[in-house]
Amino acid sequence: MPSNIKRVALNTGGGDAPGLNAVIRAAVIAACQRGWEVVGIREGYNGLLEPQRYAEGGVFPLTRATVRGITHLGGTILGTTNKGNPLKFPVKNPDGTYREVDRSDELIAAFKTNGIDALIAIGGDGSLGIASALAQKGLPVVGVPKTIDNDLDKTVVTFGFDSAVSFATTCIDRLNSTAEAHQRVMVVEVMGRHAGWIALNAGVAATADVVLIPEIPYDIEKVAQKIREREGRGSHFSIVVVAEGAFPKGGSTSIVGKEIGRADLIGGAGDHVAKQIQAITGKETRCVVLGHLLRGGTPTTFDRLLSLRFGAAAVRALDEGYSDVMVALDPPRVRYVPLSEATGRMKVVDVTCDTMLTARDLGTSFGD
Ligand code: F6P
Repeated sequence: MPSNIKRVALNTGGGDAPGLNAVIRAAVIAACQRGWEVVGIREGYNGLLEPQRYAEGGVFPLTRATVRGITHLGGTILGTTNKGNPLKFPVKNPDGTYREVDRSDELIAAFKTNGIDALIAIGGDGSLGIASALAQKGLPVVGVPKTIDNDLDKTVVTFGFDSAVSFATTCIDRLNSTAEAHQRVMVVEVMGRHAGWIALNAGVAATADVVLIPEIPYDIEKVAQKIREREGRGSHFSIVVVAEGAFPKGGSTSIVGKEIGRADLIGGAGDHVAKQIQAITGKETRCVVLGHLLRGGTPTTFDRLLSLRFGAAAVRALDEGYSDVMVALDPPRVRYVPLSEATGRMKVVDVTCDTMLTARDLGTSFGD
């Protein structure tokens, strides 16, 4: 059944990822082609819940002119946040502590007041979980899967992942030559708090010697053994890629405490591994943390195209009357999957997947 949409809103939530602006451009143009008005909500849902924060308004028109020339830009013209969950909105107590308040009914009312008929929510598992809750409350919502971590289920890949992996691969390539020149071990920490996709794909592509991922708790002795084996073969340098969420057997990740509404990862996984390698092998070891560099910059061609496809498909989905679904890559097509299926389970690395088997066949150590 064709939709009755006249005004659609877009928002971006959670950590940014290359391709957000390409999704926005495609969705805006596809919606304009249908005669719909489009507005952007600033910083997740904050533009609707806290409009007073924004001098130029929490909600603003998105036109063909607004989205001209943004396809290749990193970041998001809407702004984003990983702290404005409307279901657990952080409110400051008089004593300076925070409590979490469910503001979802207020938010649904704000959509109505602003004359918004539907939402395209661009985000990762947290943002899409929120989007689904809003859909359950009657707002037509379509989600677009974003995250450099690639940990969203039911889509072959999320946009942003390819850009992060490409950049990580380039960085590891560069570290190879300096590692060899100085006969050192270089440890490279990449993002991936629960899933090791970036570490695995970049590590294998850049022919790292050791890859440590959250899915396989590591034994540092096995890591040292791999480095010694290389020494024995006359290779006096090694590259070790560590996902930020990797942890030793019997140990735990560097995720500590809880920021309001969100586990806080303080980092240090790579540094920890580097110190131990140096202590055990006696080899000079350096650690490089790529961190947020992986989230910046221009999207790769793959991510641009995927983002444009996702943005246009999200508008088609709304136009076809779908709600509470996410657009998903299922090559060669983009299909719609229930948001609950996409967010119900985190897509971690399948340790029997072909890339893992390839890595094992090539002699990569996973510290196990
Ligand atoms: O979820 C994407 C991600 O980039 C993770 O890999 C990383 O742990 C997290 O975001 C970092 O978040 P923040 O920008 O709040 O430091």
